Amino acid sequence: MAENITQEAVQTPGAVFFIFGATGDLARRKLFPAIYSLYREGKLAEDFAVIGVARRPRSEEEFREDLYRSINEFCRYKIEDTDHWNRFAGHFSYKSLDINDIDGYCELRELTESVEARFSIPGNRLFYLALAPELFGSVSFNLQKGGMLSSEGWHRLVIEKPFGYDLQSAHKLNEELSQVFKEEEIYRIDHYLGKEMVQNIEVIRFANAFFEPLWNNKHIANIQITLSETVGVEERGGYYDHAGALRDMGQNHMLQMLTMIAMEPPSRLVAEDIRDEKVKVLRSLRSYASEEEVQAHVVRGQYAAGESNGKELPGYREEDKVDSGSNTETYFAAKVFVDNFRWAGVPFYIRTGKRLPVKTTEVVVEFKQMPTNVYLGQKHTLEPNLLVIRVNPMEGIYIKINAKKPGSESKIEPLAMEFCQSCLIGINSPEAYERLIHDAAQGDSTYFTRWDEVATAWAFVDRIASAWAQKPSDILTYPAGSWGPTAADDLLAQDGFHWWPVNGQEEDNVIWIRQG
Ligand code: BG6
Repeated sequence: MAENITQEAVQTPGAVFFIFGATGDLARRKLFPAIYSLYREGKLAEDFAVIGVARRPRSEEEFREDLYRSINEFCRYKIEDTDHWNRFAGHFSYKSLDINDIDGYCELRELTESVEARFSIPGNRLFYLALAPELFGSVSFNLQKGGMLSSEGWHRLVIEKPFGYDLQSAHKLNEELSQVFKEEEIYRIDHYLGKEMVQNIEVIRFANAFFEPLWNNKHIANIQITLSETVGVEERGGYYDHAGALRDMGQNHMLQMLTMIAMEPPSRLVAEDIRDEKVKVLRSLRSYASEEEVQAHVVRGQYAAGESNGKELPGYREEDKVDSGSNTETYFAAKVFVDNFRWAGVPFYIRTGKRLPVKTTEVVVEFKQMPTNVYLGQKHTLEPNLLVIRVNPMEGIYIKINAKKPGSESKIEPLAMEFCQSCLIGINSPEAYERLIHDAAQGDSTYFTRWDEVATAWAFVDRIASAWAQKPSDILTYPAGSWGPTAADDLLAQDGFHWWPVNGQEEDNVIWIRQG
């Protein structure tokens, strides 16, 4: 009953997947559904086992009921065939564990050896820590002490963000992990790198003669990356109030997307070569040296009460588990420069925020204007060409060009040609977590962040954060449901640009040709 919708089914080598935090939200919403999809698509053969680990006591039967509910609610495949389901669920076991208790790890080892024998798994073990980052170090250490890393096959550690709070804490965490795991055994998740369209950036750039020759400061005027969310902080106020938008989204997802857009073509399409190129981009980021420079290039904001679609929304300071006097930013926009030969002088405008009007992730590449002193330019106000990559929730690309209005003598109109990938394959687009778990089990770390990437990104972000820390209350507010502080518009206006409207807010004068 394996289904092969979007990718050839490359099977993972037999392995045991340990999900630490198996009763938590991430496991329920993302990890179990991802494992089920991999099984449905034939990417997991029968030689795999999953051991859910959490503190809470849970019988095997209760655990499988949780699993059933999670898949029914969150998986893109529904459970249709009872025999198939029973076969799948038979691969799952549960171990209640106090993660500080070494004896518990010894029991876990016994359970592991028995499932390895049952499913003929050759000792390959993948440890997915869906846990608070403070626990990564001690769990790794206890895995070693409890003899979990002494089997013959490979051992891999998969961890979620945030990887530290700043460069110093990230260093400390990395040192702890590296006492147990080698760098090539550590898979740091940035789920944006698992998104279909983020991975497609490489293909759009390096497989099209249209784009790569123009991909530089001679032809590109600016690049805009928007990652907007309609939600507030939901039930994560405690974590978020400590982190803020810069650490939650900037240090990871936004800088990772920027590196994919800006990197040089790697010499080979292999993990280390690609990650080498990404690190070079991060090293080329112009660092803002003083508080004034940060202020001139970065805007921070916090949402106040507002409304969206007729619904009243509370301000950030009124959210659950948020300090009522909090100065944490829920929005930031920055003008960033990549100071290398390719990008010298091209501004990258990046912005992200909670409680904005639309949920979208988009990259807009704005090309330089045609000369206005010749021919068409003298008679018309031409719009710049755009290449827009839609990452989330709509997936696709469009290009905007100028064309003659049909039938008119000389009228020129902007024409947008769109390939809407999500309209074509709809819900069958694999989830980021499916790809990433599959990649980690294959030993492919291309779409995971290497330590030097993480460290360089922190160094960049820390300078901004420490300038902000000088004047914590110097934060702008914006009404929930708006596009953030207007100062973010000024960042572009100073350079003669503006934010292009995102998904669903297309301009009236553009003719759309859609496929999908
Ligand atoms: C997470 C952030 O990494 O990404 C969240 O911690 C954010 O604050 C989420 O909501 C957004 O992810 P996506 O895939 O829904 O755009």
